[in-house]
Amino acid sequence: MMQAQLHCLCLLTLYLTTGYGQERKFSGPLKPMTFSIFEGQAPSQVIFQFKANPPAVTFKLTGETDGIFQIQPDGLLYHNKALDRETRAVHKLQVSALNANGAVVEGPVPITIEVKDINDNRPTFLQQKYEGSVRQNSRPGKPFMYVNATDLDDPTTPNGQLFYEIIIQLPKINNAMYFQINNKTGAISLTREGAQELDPVKNPSYSLVVSVKDMGGQTDHSFSDSTSVNIMVKENIWKAPDPVEIVENSTDPHPVKITQVQWNEPGAQYLLPEKERMPTFPFSIDQEGGIYVTRPLDREEKDSYVFYAVAKDEIGTILALPLEIRVKVKDINDNPPTCPSAVTVFEVQENENIGSNIGTFIAHDIDEENTANSVLMYKIVDQIPKIPKEGLFLIQSYLGVVQLAGQSLKKQDTPQYNLTIEVSDKDFKTLCHVEIHVIDINDQIPIFEKSDYGNLTLAEDTAVGSTILTIWATDGDEPFTGSSKILYRIQGDDDGPLGIDTDPQTNVGYVIIKKPLDFETAPVHNIVFQAENPEPLVPGIYYNTSSSATFKLIVTDVNEAPQFSQRVYQARVKEDVAIGTIVGNVTAKDPENLGISYSLRGDPRGWLKIDPVTGTIFTAAPLDREAESLYRVQVVATEVGGYSRESTANFHLTLWDVNDNPPRLAKDYTGLFLCHPLHQEGTLIFEVTDDDQPSLLHQHVSFSLGSESFRHDWNVLRLNDTHGKLTATGKNFEERVYNVPIRVTDGGRPPLEGLVFLPVTFCRCVEGTCFRPAAHQSGMPTVGMAVGILLTTFLVIGIILAVVFIRIKKNEGKDNVESAQASEAQPLRN
Ligand SMILES: *[C@@H]1O[C@H](CO)[C@@H](O)[C@H](O)[C@H]1NC(C)=O
Ligand SMILES: *[C@@H]1O[C@H](CO)[C@@H](O)[C@H](O)[C@H]1NC(C)=O
Ligand SMILES: *[C@@H]1O[C@H](CO)[C@@H](O)[C@H](O)[C@H]1NC(C)=O
Ligand SMILES: *[C@@H]1O[C@H](CO)[C@@H](O)[C@H](O)[C@H]1NC(C)=O
Ligand SMILES: *[C@@H]1O[C@H](CO)[C@@H](O)[C@H](O)[C@H]1NC(C)=O
Ligand SMILES: *[C@@H]1O[C@H](CO)[C@@H](O)[C@H](O)[C@H]1NC(C)=O
Ligand SMILES: *[C@@H]1O[C@H](CO)[C@@H](O)[C@H](O)[C@H]1NC(C)=O
Ligand SMILES: *[C@@H]1O[C@H](CO)[C@@H](O)[C@H](O)[C@H]1NC(C)=O
Repeated sequence: MMQAQLHCLCLLTLYLTTGYGQERKFSGPLKPMTFSIFEGQAPSQVIFQFKANPPAVTFKLTGETDGIFQIQPDGLLYHNKALDRETRAVHKLQVSALNANGAVVEGPVPITIEVKDINDNRPTFLQQKYEGSVRQNSRPGKPFMYVNATDLDDPTTPNGQLFYEIIIQLPKINNAMYFQINNKTGAISLTREGAQELDPVKNPSYSLVVSVKDMGGQTDHSFSDSTSVNIMVKENIWKAPDPVEIVENSTDPHPVKITQVQWNEPGAQYLLPEKERMPTFPFSIDQEGGIYVTRPLDREEKDSYVFYAVAKDEIGTILALPLEIRVKVKDINDNPPTCPSAVTVFEVQENENIGSNIGTFIAHDIDEENTANSVLMYKIVDQIPKIPKEGLFLIQSYLGVVQLAGQSLKKQDTPQYNLTIEVSDKDFKTLCHVEIHVIDINDQIPIFEKSDYGNLTLAEDTAVGSTILTIWATDGDEPFTGSSKILYRIQGDDDGPLGIDTDPQTNVGYVIIKKPLDFETAPVHNIVFQAENPEPLVPGIYYNTSSSATFKLIVTDVNEAPQFSQRVYQARVKEDVAIGTIVGNVTAKDPENLGISYSLRGDPRGWLKIDPVTGTIFTAAPLDREAESLYRVQVVATEVGGYSRESTANFHLTLWDVNDNPPRLAKDYTGLFLCHPLHQEGTLIFEVTDDDQPSLLHQHVSFSLGSESFRHDWNVLRLNDTHGKLTATGKNFEERVYNVPIRVTDGGRPPLEGLVFLPVTFCRCVEGTCFRPAAHQSGMPTVGMAVGILLTTFLVIGIILAVVFIRIKKNEGKDNVESAQASEAQPLRN
């Protein structure tokens, strides 16, 4: 078993583990092999037993034996001293097999001994004491110094892996670590707190104790060493300069240096990123960190600038956070005041009181607000025209309020004043123009051209719309305003026959007739015209009698036609009223109170008569709704005596239906037939109608046979409001025409009944139509016809017998199946 395992292992690298009290011997033939052996092992350890094949009798060992490795003649390889990896990590040996003569018969084959590391060396710092320095505000995590320790053990094993740690920081404020160390590289940098808090003024130096451990610092067995590190804190000169103030509109030659930035070490490159992006950016930086303004600035364009300065190293890496540069542009009084607009207009009423505010005049100055550069002063320097005197207006020096300083203004005299206002700041003066418009007020009343427009006589039939008079008043206020526009009114007579149209341009009023004049009701009109303004009058001014005028309109009589009380008279009556029944009456009056005679016009059916004295209308003949349901005639009223003037009105008589028409067949049914012989019930559908109002029929129409003798073979049914169904139920019909009497009753109150006859022909059918027309009812048949009829009858009987015979035979086979032969009402073919 051990043999087999060994055999296997020898093919691979052989690891020998010894020293645990258990000695293992491995053996095999001579071939290249590699062994790994921990350093520091006890001496005289057997490594391998080589087996010699004849003629070999002994072995020889050469190579880097360092006096440690030996081989016995029987091939036992061993070492006689402890190995030290730090002295030699790999021993390259050769083993040869020798014969009795000492000549090499096998090999030499290479045997490699790898010495495996154990943690037998301590890490040691290269220096007992380290000195370093760091700039205030350095970037956290950026190393500013290193500590370095060495360990002789294999760095590829934990034995040689070092772990650095800061174990003490002095002083330590608020328990905050200002420094950190990279546990693998020993690089020391600032923590975030350190970057913020370090200040050479407060604490110019710090001491650290840094330890290093091997085994990656992970086990209790690791060795360690420590060193002290002194760190000087140096001032950071890379910091934002104080805000700069630049006076605008400077005449100094540019560029002008305004401030300076500086990186902690020489050799940095400086730039202003804005400068790169904006070609008009007015600042630049030189390679010493000097910052310049490149042209005069204008506060009114931009009153402050904020931008950043950046320091980079030779390869373009940004060294630290950019610094903020703040520039304020200082105002000088370099802008004159400006007028609010080319001309400022204020309005003032004629009757404005002294001291009234007319408006506030505000000019502008774009220099800095709330400084002497933009405080403005106002002064009126000119007034045109100087009518009635100079100094009619005042302006408040600093507020710009314009006030009326003189007597009330008169628009008729001076409609407008032009003022020149001088506006000044500390250094500049500007002249502005102000127009003062004087506004008219309604202080003039309309005055009629005359107070009396005299008498006018008109016939009462003067056409509506006629202009009968022109009136005119004038107003002294400003034209085309509500103060001078004139509204004419007829005093206390809004509903009267006259109206007034006014020309808005001239204020001329046209008196027109807007309703018919009537001598009989108002033969004289005493009219007072009043003229007013739409705008109210100013206080203290009132309309007086000059604003009104009188006029007398005399209406003369004209013989007028009688007038009906209505244009259309309407009446309703049943169509069956007795002759002489009063159906309505009309009344007309003559304006001149003459007698009136009534008559009818347009009575084509002669149904009506009118009493010429009373106007009562009554029937003169039977009425018939079915002939005319709405009967229209004209009634005429004629003056008795005088000029026999007449007028007409309409009389509309609506006739109410009465059930005076029995139902009847809706059409001619002479062509109805049924096939003879009848194989099954023959049905015929027919339609009835009624000349009365349709509703009378529709609701309750009913059908019945008109004669007892038909009851046996016929049946009649109501299908719906217009249709009935006649059924031939009997068997023994002859081949002839049956005039079936049917009673149809309508739904009138009382109902009316009609007797109608449906002529039904029984005939022999060929392909569903009557083969032979029914016998002529009118007159006797001729001999020839009689013979024909006889022959045909025989033939028909023969055919019928034959058909019956065939059918009987057929029915023996299939009992109840009868070929359906429907008989429908159909017109005969003529
Ligand atoms: C530490 O010292 C070793 C040996 O002198 C050297 O090889 C290594 O580069 C040093 N490491 C640092 C970070 O200085
Ligand atoms: C060593 O430092 C690295 C980061 O630099 C950290 O992730 C790791 O946890 C540290 N090792 C120990 C044991 O603190
Ligand atoms: C600079 O000042 C002068 C007068 O002092 C003025 O005429 C000019 O308009 C000013 N320029 C700007 C840009 O304000
Ligand atoms: C006032 O100025 C306007 C122009 O702004 C001019 O048309 C008008 O005639 C002037 N009026 C007087 C009374 O000078
Ligand atoms: C108008 O008629 C009245 C009588 O109705 C008369 O007194 C008056 O004199 C007349 N006036 C004119 C101007 O004809
Ligand atoms: C009416 O008033 C105006 C002035 O407003 C005056 O001229 C006129 O005489 C007055 N008319 C009468 C009748 O008092
Ligand atoms: C005229 O007819 C109306 C109804 O139309 C009636 O009230 C009135 O009494 C009738 N007058 C005469 C005189 O018949
Ligand atoms: C009544 O019945 C006939 C036959 O069925 C049909 O043609 C007709 O339209 C019906 N009329 C109404 C009003 O239903």
